[in-house]
Amino acid sequence: MKSFKILTFGCQMNEHDSEKLAGLLKAEGYSESERLEDAGLVLLNTCSIREKAEQKFYSALGKLRELKKQNPSMKIAVSGCIAQQEGKSMLRRAPYIDILFGNQNIDKLPSLIEESAGGTAIDTRFTDGYEHTAIPASRESAVAAFVNIMYGCDNFCTYCVVPFVRGRERSRRPGDIIREVEELVKSGCREVTLLGQNVNSYGKPVITPPLSPSYLKRGMNEKNCNFPELLKEINAIDGLLRIRFVTSHPKDLSGSLIGAMANLPKVCNAIHLPLQSASDSVLGRMNRKYTFTDYMNRLGALRDAVPDLAVSTDIIAGFPGETEEDFQATISALEDIRFDGIFAFKYSNRPNTAALKLPGHLPEDVRDERLYKVLELQDKIMQEKISARIGLVEEALVEGPDKSGEMGRLTGKTRQGKIVNFEGPPELVGRLVRVKVIEGRKHSLAGVLI
Ligand code: SAH
Ligand code: SF4
Ligand code: F3S
Repeated sequence: MKSFKILTFGCQMNEHDSEKLAGLLKAEGYSESERLEDAGLVLLNTCSIREKAEQKFYSALGKLRELKKQNPSMKIAVSGCIAQQEGKSMLRRAPYIDILFGNQNIDKLPSLIEESAGGTAIDTRFTDGYEHTAIPASRESAVAAFVNIMYGCDNFCTYCVVPFVRGRERSRRPGDIIREVEELVKSGCREVTLLGQNVNSYGKPVITPPLSPSYLKRGMNEKNCNFPELLKEINAIDGLLRIRFVTSHPKDLSGSLIGAMANLPKVCNAIHLPLQSASDSVLGRMNRKYTFTDYMNRLGALRDAVPDLAVSTDIIAGFPGETEEDFQATISALEDIRFDGIFAFKYSNRPNTAALKLPGHLPEDVRDERLYKVLELQDKIMQEKISARIGLVEEALVEGPDKSGEMGRLTGKTRQGKIVNFEGPPELVGRLVRVKVIEGRKHSLAGVLI
């Protein structure tokens, strides 16, 4: 029996790529192993966003090497952003890898497995094509699904490796996205999260596979559309209950997107809007293409238009040249904005990026200390924000049994995207329910059905 196990590092993009890789393998007759030790093929889908992510991968790879010593027939495959970044040179460090492929070669996995019988099989070419659309994903959840709307990134923020490992920005045809969502809904899906590194710029360079017949039937023409228009089309799909998307770039947060979020009933009241820093000189050197005032104006308009909006963000502490004053600007911004969630990181050098050559790289202890201050402040803000929700009635989409495995308990998400756990019968899975929040923890709420 052919079996596999996939270990995924990194962002939702990688999580969804792993779902496609699992789909491909299942279509080839593989079954998924519970335990790593039992798998004939172990695939590491890697992330290169920060040095720490890279270290995590190499330590997992080292452990696999030990397993392979005991079980030489086990195949080790490496995909994702580090595979793309390193290419063949990874084999100098880890010659025991059997299969190595990049982000745009996911569809090649079955042929690479065959090829690996004769030695390491490698494909890290950039095709910039329509690589993933036809792959049947084996999704984690039947109720909530990731759907790619675009690939790659053209923004070249000076700290970021993504444009180098994911390639140029390409948008999928609207018709193909809509067909995929319609098919998902037919199989029970009720919520989609649209994925792209910068979804707000969706539709610029659209790539051109054949349009799907169902798209033409809907009477849409062949024109490309922009992101708010795409949201409107997806909002019209019967049976779908909710739409989310990540990530939004502040520079592309248009008035029409704000209008779409305010007026389309299925679009949830949540946005991830990475600020990175509140200092204009740092933002300039990051090549973010907005000022702090731009960010605040757009966020203000969005908060005015969308009631009870949850806003989360990304912050980089200790970017090259960041002064104490720059850093304090970020701290006061966090105090003013009061984000519902943040992902904060200390600046980390990445290969090929322009920030490597910027003056004023800061010592690790300064970056650590600033990161700690950001996290400490945000912890306090989040505790206050979560406590403020106790007693409120939230609409939750029920996704399945509570992950803790406790009998009779269900898990779902509020419209703001918070996990909420409560007691209820399994028939509620896939349905919207009303839940009164009785307890707020850092990463989830507990509630009772009302
Ligand atoms: N396209 C998305 C996600 C990018 S990666 C976006 O633009 O928001 C997620 C986050 O990782 C970034 O927003 C940034 O805060 C952080 N990040 C990226 N490169 C980094 C680096 N070299 N050092 C520290 N943090 C980094
Ligand atoms: Fe990286 Fe910037 Fe693109 Fe986001 S927008 S993926 S931070 S280059
Ligand atoms: Fe990491 Fe690649 Fe995503 S570098 S954050 S897995 S795009």
